[in-house]
Amino acid sequence: MSEKIAYTPLGKETPRRKSSKLLKHLAVGALLVFAGYKAFSHISDDEPPINPKESILDTLKINLAGDWLKKYTSEPHLAGTNYGFVEWTAQKFEEYGFTLSIDEYEILVSYPHEQALHLLKSDEVVYTAPLKEDVLEDDKTTQGNDTIPTFLGYAANGNVTAEYIYVNYGTLEDFEKLNKLGVDVNGKIVIARYGAIFRGLKVKFAQEAGAIGILLYSDPGDDNGITPANGYKQYPDGPARQESSVQRGSVQFLGGVGATPGDPTTPGYPSKAGAEREDPHQSIGKIPALAISYREVKPILARLNGHGLKIKEKGWVGELEGFDYSTGPNEKFTLNLYNDQIFKITPLWNVYGEIEGDNKDEVIVIGNHRDAWIKGGAGDPNSGSAVLLEVARALGALKAAGYKFKRSIILQSFDGEEYGLLGSTEQGEYFAKSYQKNVVAYLNLDAAVVGKHIHFSALPTLNHILREAAKEIEYPEEGVGSVYDDWVEQHDGKVGILGSGSDYTVYLEHLGIPSADIGFGPTKGDKLIYHYHSNYDSYHWISKFADPGFVYHNLAAKYLSFLILGLSEHQVINFRLTEYASALKKYYDEATELVPKKWLKQEVTDEDSWDDLLNFDEDVEYINEASSGIYFDESPLPFVDLLKVQRTCHSGQVRGLLNTKHHKNATLHDLIEYTQRDFDRLHNTTVLFDQSTRDLQFQFDHRDSLNFWQKIKLHFRIKVQNKLLKYFERNFLHGKGLHERSWFKHIVFASGRKTGYAAQTLPGLKEAAEDGDFKRFVHWLGIVSRALKRANAQLA
Ligand SMILES: *[C@@H]1O[C@H](CO)[C@@H](O)[C@H](O)[C@H]1NC(C)=O
Ligand SMILES: *[C@@H]1O[C@H](CO)[C@@H](O)[C@H](O)[C@H]1NC(C)=O
Ligand SMILES: *[C@@H]1O[C@H](CO)[C@@H](O)[C@H](O)[C@H]1NC(C)=O
Repeated sequence: MSEKIAYTPLGKETPRRKSSKLLKHLAVGALLVFAGYKAFSHISDDEPPINPKESILDTLKINLAGDWLKKYTSEPHLAGTNYGFVEWTAQKFEEYGFTLSIDEYEILVSYPHEQALHLLKSDEVVYTAPLKEDVLEDDKTTQGNDTIPTFLGYAANGNVTAEYIYVNYGTLEDFEKLNKLGVDVNGKIVIARYGAIFRGLKVKFAQEAGAIGILLYSDPGDDNGITPANGYKQYPDGPARQESSVQRGSVQFLGGVGATPGDPTTPGYPSKAGAEREDPHQSIGKIPALAISYREVKPILARLNGHGLKIKEKGWVGELEGFDYSTGPNEKFTLNLYNDQIFKITPLWNVYGEIEGDNKDEVIVIGNHRDAWIKGGAGDPNSGSAVLLEVARALGALKAAGYKFKRSIILQSFDGEEYGLLGSTEQGEYFAKSYQKNVVAYLNLDAAVVGKHIHFSALPTLNHILREAAKEIEYPEEGVGSVYDDWVEQHDGKVGILGSGSDYTVYLEHLGIPSADIGFGPTKGDKLIYHYHSNYDSYHWISKFADPGFVYHNLAAKYLSFLILGLSEHQVINFRLTEYASALKKYYDEATELVPKKWLKQEVTDEDSWDDLLNFDEDVEYINEASSGIYFDESPLPFVDLLKVQRTCHSGQVRGLLNTKHHKNATLHDLIEYTQRDFDRLHNTTVLFDQSTRDLQFQFDHRDSLNFWQKIKLHFRIKVQNKLLKYFERNFLHGKGLHERSWFKHIVFASGRKTGYAAQTLPGLKEAAEDGDFKRFVHWLGIVSRALKRANAQLA
């Protein structure tokens, strides 16, 4: 209970004092002049003669990533188990000069106990799936008595027997299609192949369609042609998928309607000891589920040949030998699916390490999870954990040499990411206020190195920094050039859009903090299958197939260290907003293209609540809290009148346009055009704003030519600029959250409600259009328009 109070929902207690402003401003002003003078003299006179980039490259000439990977893959470390790894990670952070904390939460998880799968013909068992991956002589991780069973986290317990049906990927569209074609899944067990959407949503859609159990398997048709049928040998003799390999994973309803990430018993608030608990079934399923290998599913699916429908569309047919992809059922055969797991609320541990910078209220966070579904987990997440330790070592050496960082740097090793972003979500909820106040950017690792080519997904604000760092690092392969050159070659220089599926979710989508997700992976030319969440994601696999010599682990550590410098060491935070504004315009075009033609002429009335000033006030208060008093703060920084200016201009414009009481109402077409101008205006503003960011940094770099007062003035201009840059993202939060997904507060970036992982931009608008909900579309147009005005008023 008390923990719920610690997490006061933002925006409720906004102080607005109005006393003796002038005196106070003078006093604060004098103090700040002094502080500014000190800051500048410190920077210009005492700067130690250390070149941080040289120091980092020097430290990383020795490559210890393989040692760390060996350690992290030596024992099982499911969420909430292996406190030894917690202590070891903590000890490493400390050894490298980071201030340490271990942060404990009590979270619902499930551990495997017993599971079974039988194929029956009129009550007689004709096949029993072993539910085990093969032990391989070459791969030590697969041996021993401590491998983790093939199970699905949070899958409900149950013992069900029924006829079964092949449902392709088990997407919502797949279930809708089957329903339309008269294939009834009600009361059946369904079999879905992995791919297309997050596995937890397959379970959700199956359950909602009336299925009583679900099996998930990896179809060779989803292996990009790297299959035995095409002559590729299976692991460990070649790069193809080992036929007994099983993808474990969570079946939490991540990103689905009604669900929240994190502990399913504490939606939206931290699960510290003693927290109040709720029924978890908004976020986890009620039907049993198992994951199996393609070898195990073969004899089961082969029994469906010629039964039910054969859907001949391209997306419906995989490449499983001996199966003709009929839907079934075959009334002669049933499956018995038994799942028994131990559900319990148990301690999980995050480990944090901090190097304090000169500006303690400007923090760069880099995080990775520590828990894995399997004993190895060499790629996911331990390549990330190994890289994180190498980054710690490089930055630690820099600190030890006497270097003073401008901004604080915090490393985070999360527990329980695999079950549903548990450790990161709970801490994000617990530390919401201080993170929103202080964190400049969050960088996420995960499966950091499972191939040779860098890829990013990020907020457009960070694109520039991501590219700059990549240009500075040489690519290890002869003749390629820089990491940047390889990226352009392999990924066309495209930065992905963040959806969900890793620990950045709470930072970006709940708190509005600019985030990036970074890793090295295979591309199509590489002919390499990653055994995701299988026993074969092992030290042997990485060191033989994905990264012999740990060359790319070393590269990742260099890259991330440079990236951290790029974020922390510029006097003016090195964000660029123009790319953000351009991306917004593109997302808006996509959203308006979804609008049905007949909506355009439709009139918008007061009831459609576009001009919702009540909502406007609520959001301003919410964002004021989330951005450390940017609207109501009494500091001498020039934000004080922002709100007034905005409110007047906003309501004036809106009334002028709509004139709802006295004249004809505006049509949706009018509103779309009106909002288009908000996007254009923000774009124009960001062009100038980015120019001023560059100018200020330039002046700072040449500050020696400035006199005392010019220096003081520059100091304050940079302070204001940094505040605007730091809190820019918060403008895109909406206190009430997305439609039916209130935990997701970001109005531009979310995961798809039907996909779980994949990104959805401007979800309020796009979902309303998809649902054919005119009123909701209009409402979200208002929310978006106000956010753009808010951002524009701040920057202009
Ligand atoms: C597992 O194997 C280890 C070493 O081979 C042995 O010491 C331990 O007793 C075994 N545990 C069980 C539960 O069989
Ligand atoms: C599951 O239920 C069946 C009857 O439907 C029963 O024969 C079987 O023993 C049960 N399995 C387990 C593991 O309890
Ligand atoms: C943005 O700038 C362009 C080019 O300078 C100008 O034509 C346009 O009117 C501006 N748009 C808005 C909405 O201010």
